[in-house]
Amino acid sequence: MYSMNDKSALKQLIDTDEFSNKLNLDRKTYGLVFDKRTLNSIYYIIKKFNIDFVDFPISSGKESLVFKVIDKKKKAYALKIYKISTLKFSNTFEYIRGDYRFDKERINRSNIVYIWAQKEFTNLDDMRKAKVKSPFPYGYYKNVLLMSYIGTKNEPSPQIKYIDTDFELLYKKLKINLKNMYKKAGLVHADLSEYNILYYRKNPYIIDVGQSVSVKHPRANEFIRRDIKNITTFFLKKNVKCSEDDLYKYLNGDKDD
Ligand SMILES: Nc1ncnc2c1ncn2[C@@H]1O[C@H](COP(=O)(O)OP(=O)(O)O)[C@@H](O)[C@H]1O
Ligand SMILES: [Mg+2]
Repeated sequence: MYSMNDKSALKQLIDTDEFSNKLNLDRKTYGLVFDKRTLNSIYYIIKKFNIDFVDFPISSGKESLVFKVIDKKKKAYALKIYKISTLKFSNTFEYIRGDYRFDKERINRSNIVYIWAQKEFTNLDDMRKAKVKSPFPYGYYKNVLLMSYIGTKNEPSPQIKYIDTDFELLYKKLKINLKNMYKKAGLVHADLSEYNILYYRKNPYIIDVGQSVSVKHPRANEFIRRDIKNITTFFLKKNVKCSEDDLYKYLNGDKDD
């Protein structure tokens, strides 16, 4: 637990060995993540939302870090930080280009990481309105996003990859969420897999939607096909009766099952 009252506390937190050890960060990554601009963005968010302390790190991936943080009223959030220097421009641009919601002209190498957080925020907001179970987006600033924390006091919810449950039932619930995401929110996840779905209170929660695109994106159909393939492969392994074609038809059809 580290108090977040001032900038130096934040800096201290980040400089502790405990912090970098827990995250398994090597020196190079560490420098990439916590550059001055990122520190300032984190600082902006913790001030604006009265964040009191960082509870624990949740995840350290190639392109982002996620922490559980707590505000002054003891409410928990997940703080996601996009690594500024490791996001590849060409990869990223594919998902933004062709998305009419974002202003393409103003995107360049140095500000694209900021678009990413904005995109994830907007997508989560659209999903929430479409009743898709997903983290509630509270705010973002530059490359930092604050959303609701999915999990218990001591443990973030597991990815469905790592659970044992009634997968038949889980698949049914997931289908409904995916249809709402696709038809109501008008979004294709574009990186859907058993790693980007959390299991919380017996429900699937869809996360990691920075790269998700509008169904009007020129490559939307290719992306939805890929998502469907990943999901079907996973659930077939769990002995759920399903197929790519059935799921595709379900998502595109008017029927509810
Ligand atoms: N709101 C959240 N609540 C709890 N855990 C989360 C939340 N968002 C992300 N995580 C955890 O952090 C991991 C990484 O987040 P994710 O958004 O998938 O980013 P990426 O995979 O691009 O690094 C997730 O797999 C999940 O375990
Ligand atoms: Mg992920």
